[in-house]
Amino acid sequence: MENKRPIGIIGAMGVEVRALLDAMEETGQERFAGLVFHVGSLSGAPCVIAQCGEGKVNAAVCAQTMILQYAPRLVINVGVAGGVGLNIGDLVVASACVQHDFDATPMGYPLGNLFLYRDEGEPEQRIELPADGAAAALLLEEAQAIYGGAYSGIVATGDQFVADKAKNQWLHETFGAKAVEMEGGSIAQVCYMNRTPFAVLRAISDNADGGSPVDFPAFTQECAAKTARLLTQALGRL
Ligand code: ADE
Repeated sequence: MENKRPIGIIGAMGVEVRALLDAMEETGQERFAGLVFHVGSLSGAPCVIAQCGEGKVNAAVCAQTMILQYAPRLVINVGVAGGVGLNIGDLVVASACVQHDFDATPMGYPLGNLFLYRDEGEPEQRIELPADGAAAALLLEEAQAIYGGAYSGIVATGDQFVADKAKNQWLHETFGAKAVEMEGGSIAQVCYMNRTPFAVLRAISDNADGGSPVDFPAFTQECAAKTARLLTQALGRL
C-alpha cells in the first residue's frame, strides 16, 4: 500500500522538469493554484511531477498542494544550483537544507533560524532541515554508478540569485553550504511541517559568483539533463 503512494517531483523551471515529463507515462493532469500536476509513473514508480516556478513562495505553494492532493511518500526537489566551492557539472545531494535569507537576528536568533509549528504551543527552532537519509543515500549511490559520484552537503536556499564572490564565501562560512538555489529549503520546510520525507538533487550550473549571469544560461540545459537521468534511474529503487 505504501508503495502505491506516489513520489512527488518538483522543479522550478521548465528545463528542470521537461526531460522527466517526457520520460514519464502520464495518466492524467490536474491544475491547482495555477500549477499543473502531472500524474503517472516513471521507471515503474508512481509519481506526480510539477513545475513550481522560481523562489520560495512558489515552491511552498507547490509542495503543500502536492502533499494535500496526492499524499506523496517522498518529495524530491530537482534542478540546478550555484556552486559553493564546487565546479560546474558537479552533483549535490542535500544532507540538509537551510534558508540563508531567513533573518531574525535583531530578535537575538541565529541567522537562518526557522520557527516550525508542527504541534500546538511553542515553535520548534531549527536552522538545518535534514533530508531523508535513505533517499539521499540511494541518490548518492546512483550518482556514483552513473557519473562517478556526487557531493553530499548543505543546500542553501533564498529568494536571491547569487552572483557574488563575497556572498558565496559567506554561504560557505555561515552555513557550510555546498550549493545555493531558490526552492529546496522552502520545500524542505513544507515537508518538515507535514512530516513528509524529502530529498534535494541539484547539478551545479554556475559558480554563484561574478560569472554566473553568463554561465547559468549556458550550462543549465545540460545540468538539468544530468539530474533528470539520475533521477529516472533512481526512481525504480526509491
Ligand atoms: N540556481 C542556479 N544558480 C543559482 C544561483 N547562482 N543562485 C541562486 N539560485 C541558483
